[in-house]
Amino acid sequence: SKSLPLYGKKILITAGPTYEAIDPVRFIGNHSSGKMGYKLAETALQLGAEVVLVSGPSHELLNDAKLTLIKVTSAEEMLQACQIHFKDTEVFIASAAVSDYRPKHISTQKIKKSDAEIQIELVKNPDILFEMGQQKKNQLVVGFALETNNEIENATKKLQKKNLDFIVLNSLQDQGAGFQKDTNLVKIIDRENNINTYSLKPKSEVAKDIFEVLLKKLQL
Ligand code: C5P
Repeated sequence: SKSLPLYGKKILITAGPTYEAIDPVRFIGNHSSGKMGYKLAETALQLGAEVVLVSGPSHELLNDAKLTLIKVTSAEEMLQACQIHFKDTEVFIASAAVSDYRPKHISTQKIKKSDAEIQIELVKNPDILFEMGQQKKNQLVVGFALETNNEIENATKKLQKKNLDFIVLNSLQDQGAGFQKDTNLVKIIDRENNINTYSLKPKSEVAKDIFEVLLKKLQL
């Protein structure tokens, strides 16, 4: 396996949603399945890498001698795990659908229903990808974007703001793409404004396309 292109390289990947607790039984979450992130991890392993996968709640399974799977629940836990592993990693890929906000207070007791309306105050979560982009030294940092309008323009802004090497733009325009699907339709945009357009394909194949770009950027 020493002949594999990513042998000796460590790759950090985030996957899945985050759950932000409201009380002991309720949370704010989203429909991310984690599929894309797990496929990326699987592909990296096949290419010989050592992988740290930081995953929010997901039904996906992956097991490998060279995989460290860290299961987390909230964005803050996900950030903590990434902070520990980012320093000695060559590549960071953020495919998690991190909740942008979390409840300001977590009730220790189950919130009782009454006839009154209630409000939940939300505070901003850390942007994990932005933080890693700031800490970036000789590393490659890759993000995802899901846009509904001005897709390329918005994705390019995100690439710059978060100091990414490239960004994978998910198109919502297509039936087969996105959350909980096994297929995805993407474009990859890099810092030099090169745009690669791919056809609708299984997420396992999308993962291979992403690593093809990564290997080129790593000059492998
Ligand atoms: O800004 P936006 O949420 O659209 O950016 C999406 C990208 O940023 C994804 O790669 C996602 O994993 C990452 N992200 C993150 N932490 C957040 C929000 C987004 O790592 N709090």
